[in-house]
Amino acid sequence: MEGEKNNNNWSGQLGFLLAAAGSSIGLGNIWRFPYMTGMNGGGAFVLLYILVVILIGVPLMMAEISLGRAAGANPVRAFSLMTPKKGVFTNLSASLLLLGAIVMLVTGNPSGAVIVAVIGAMFLLLGWKTVGFFCGIVPIILLSYYGVIGGWTLLYIVDSIRGLNDFTTIQGAENVMRPILYASGGWKWAVIIAQLGFMAACLGISLAGVRDGIERWSKMLMPLLFVLMCVLIVRGLTLPGAAKGLRFFLEPDFSKLTAGGVIAAVGQAFFTLSLGMGIMLTYGSYLNPQSNITKATLGVIGLDTLAAVMAGIAIFPAVFAMGFAPSGGPDLTFKVLPAAFNMIPGGMGVIWNVLFFLMLFIAALTSAISLIEPPASILVGELKFNRKAAVVIIVLLCSVIGVICALSMADWTNLPEFGKVIQKIWYGKAPGSFFDTLDSFCCNWILPMLGLATTIYVGWIWGSRNALKELREGDTGALDNNIWLLIAGFKAKDGGKDRRYIFTPGILWGFALRWICPVLVLLAFFNCIGVLKF
Ligand code: ALA
Repeated sequence: MEGEKNNNNWSGQLGFLLAAAGSSIGLGNIWRFPYMTGMNGGGAFVLLYILVVILIGVPLMMAEISLGRAAGANPVRAFSLMTPKKGVFTNLSASLLLLGAIVMLVTGNPSGAVIVAVIGAMFLLLGWKTVGFFCGIVPIILLSYYGVIGGWTLLYIVDSIRGLNDFTTIQGAENVMRPILYASGGWKWAVIIAQLGFMAACLGISLAGVRDGIERWSKMLMPLLFVLMCVLIVRGLTLPGAAKGLRFFLEPDFSKLTAGGVIAAVGQAFFTLSLGMGIMLTYGSYLNPQSNITKATLGVIGLDTLAAVMAGIAIFPAVFAMGFAPSGGPDLTFKVLPAAFNMIPGGMGVIWNVLFFLMLFIAALTSAISLIEPPASILVGELKFNRKAAVVIIVLLCSVIGVICALSMADWTNLPEFGKVIQKIWYGKAPGSFFDTLDSFCCNWILPMLGLATTIYVGWIWGSRNALKELREGDTGALDNNIWLLIAGFKAKDGGKDRRYIFTPGILWGFALRWICPVLVLLAFFNCIGVLKF
C-alpha cells in the first residue's frame, strides 16, 4: 500500500522516480555519453541519440516496468509467469539463433558464433527464462567494470585533496590519468583498493534495503548531482574558446555520422537508461499499483536526457578551450575537466576538482547499486537466499571480476597471457582491452538482444493489450485520450472512456513496442554483427 513501511518496496511514485533516475543517470551520462559523442561526430550523434531514446527508450522502459510490476517478481520469474510454457516462438528463435551462429562461423566471426549458439541453446532448453537469466548476468558484468571507474573517482578525490594531482597543464592531466588507466607501477594497488572501496560503498547502501538504502540515498544524492552539474556548466561556458565546443556538441553535421554511430547510439541508449539489464523490470516489481508508470517513465527519461545534455554542455566547451581532441575516448572526462577547473581564478582549483569527482562518484554510486538488484532479486526469488546474503555474494563476485578489469582497462600489459586468450577469441588482430571486451559484449550485443526479447515478450507474447491494462493502473486516463487533444492541451473530459478517439498514446505505445522497437533494434544488431551493412 502507498506509504506503508516496507523496506522491500518504494515509498511511492517519487521514491521510484528518484531511484530509477538515480539508476539511469550515471557514468553513462557524464563519462560515456560525452566521449561517445566525441568519437561519433558531435551534434549529429546527439540528435540521433535523442531519436533513439524516443523511439526505443520510452516504449521499452514502459514495457520493462509494467512487466515487473505485473509479475511482482524477479526477472527469471517475470519472464516465465506470463507464459509458463515454451512455445513455437521460443523454438523458432532458438533455431534462428543456432542458424545465425553457423552463418557467423562461416563468415569468420567465431567468438560471435559461440555467444549466439550458447544463447540459442539456452532458449531451446529454458524458453523465455533465458532472458530473465541474462538479466541477472549482464548487471554483474557491467558492475565489474563500472566499479573500476567508480574507484577512479575516489582516487581523484583523495589525491586532489592531498595535493598530489598536477592539473596545471594538458600534459600534467595526462600524467595523472595514464598510470591509473594502465594500472602501472604502484598504481596497480591504488586502483584495486579504490575499486574495492567503491564496491564497499555499494554494499553498504544495498544492505540497508530497497527503501532505506537505495531510495533514501537516491533522494539525497540526485538533487545534489544536478546542483553540481549546474555549477560545472557555468564554469565550462565561461572559459575562453567555449563557443567552439558548444557548437561541436549542438551543431549537427550528418556527414560525420557513420553506421558505427547508429549502433553506438542504440548501445548508449540502452546503457544510460538502464534498459535490457533487468533493472527497470526489478525496480518495477517494487512499485505499487497506484503509481503512474507512464509519468514515471517520462520523468526518468527526461531527467536522464537532461543530465546527458548538461554533461555535454559542461564538458565540450572545456575540451575545446583546453585544446584537447573531442574524440579522446574513455579517459576524456578524467583528463579534460580537471585541467579546466584548474584554470578557475582564485586558487580554488582543488575544491572544484573535488566537487567534480564527487559528482561523478555520486552518479556512479546510485547507478551501481541498481546493478546489484536484478541478480540479487533472482537469488532471493529463485534460490531462496536471504537478501543480505544475496547482495554480499553479488558484490564479492563483481569485485573479483572488477580486479581483473582494473588491471586491464587500457591494455593487457598486466595480464599478458589472459590478454592473448581474450584477444584471440574476441578481437582477431585488433588490440582492445578487457574493458573494451566487456563493454562491447554488453552494450553492443547483449543489451540490445535483451531489449529485443523484452519488446517481443511484452508486445507479442504477454501481449500489448495485457501490458496496457497494467499501464492503465495508476494512470489518470491519459493513455486512452486522443493524442491530438492531449498535445493541444484539451484532455477529453471522460478520461478517454469514449472510444471514438482511436488514436491514443496507449495505442501508439503498443504499435511502437510491437513494430518500431524490434525492427530498429534488430537492424542495429544485424549491422553490429556484420549480417547487414548500411
Ligand atoms: N544507467 C547507468 C549509467 O548510465 C548504468 O551509468
